[in-house]
Amino acid sequence: MSLEIPYVKSDSGPRSEETVILCNLPTHPYNRHSRVTKMSDTQRMYAAVAGAFRSERLVYRAFQDNEEDRSFAYNQLASDALTRGLADPSVHRPTSRQMQDGYIDSMLKTTVMYNLICLPEKDPRTGKEKLTPIGIMNVKDLPQYQRRAIFGVSIMPAYQSQGYGSEAVGWIMDWVFKWGGYHSLTLGASMYNERAVRAYKKAGFKLEGVSRETIYRDRKWWDSIQMSILEHEWEALRGIKTVKDAAA
Ligand SMILES: CC(C)(COP(=O)(O)OP(=O)(O)OC[C@H]1O[C@@H](n2cnc3c(N)ncnc32)[C@H](O)[C@@H]1OP(=O)(O)O)[C@@H](O)C(=O)NCCC(=O)NCCS
Repeated sequence: MSLEIPYVKSDSGPRSEETVILCNLPTHPYNRHSRVTKMSDTQRMYAAVAGAFRSERLVYRAFQDNEEDRSFAYNQLASDALTRGLADPSVHRPTSRQMQDGYIDSMLKTTVMYNLICLPEKDPRTGKEKLTPIGIMNVKDLPQYQRRAIFGVSIMPAYQSQGYGSEAVGWIMDWVFKWGGYHSLTLGASMYNERAVRAYKKAGFKLEGVSRETIYRDRKWWDSIQMSILEHEWEALRGIKTVKDAAA
């Protein structure tokens, strides 16, 4: 049975129950035989679960430890000098396939989530959805008592500056607070990565600190920054009531 999983625009601000019912539930096989009049908490949760790995235009699937995904990460991301130089603050040098594979091995072991960011496309003949990878993202745990996660994201050059990075950042934030159970989300970026910093600020991240002159590029030392968003800031951004508010 093929499942038509709707995108649940659950975090884009306040919405009426009717909108959610009309947009999502009737198309889902779970509800095909039930008449939904008012959404219960369980139904709302089911709808959110069903659409959890999608955002408006993108689908997020787990990185598969196979040649296809490894060569995508190497050829489309790591081999592009500018993308690599912006994403990775270490010494700027060509990346070999072995270096990249070693990095992927460690990501597969140490991340909570390591996903390819994909564009979905429906095959008009079969009706099946085909996913074309356009980027990669990861989420890692910081010390557990902090309930804090750190993330990284890269979009392949041909798809940069079309809003996909910002959309993925929004999805990562939603995942961390809705599904991961974290209290804060942080990231590191080089100060010269203006597009990334702009995307993070726009998404709601705040500056936490500056590490001065930590990245060496083209005979100049550049600052790097840490940014973060806290759970209650994300709730305010999405217009979500906290458990405390809801009880009041
Ligand atoms: C950083 C990255 C994830 C951003 O994703 P993206 O899809 O390219 O960016 P978006 O289209 O969402 O644009 C983000 C913002 O930057 C702005 N922007 C676009 N191109 C820009 C450029 N060349 N310079 C400065 N800002 C730029 C956009 O206008 C947008 O702001 P706005 O919505 O207020 O107009 C992506 O460019 C990327 O993967 N870069 C290489 C790797 C990298 O830097 N990773 C992040 C490491 S911290």
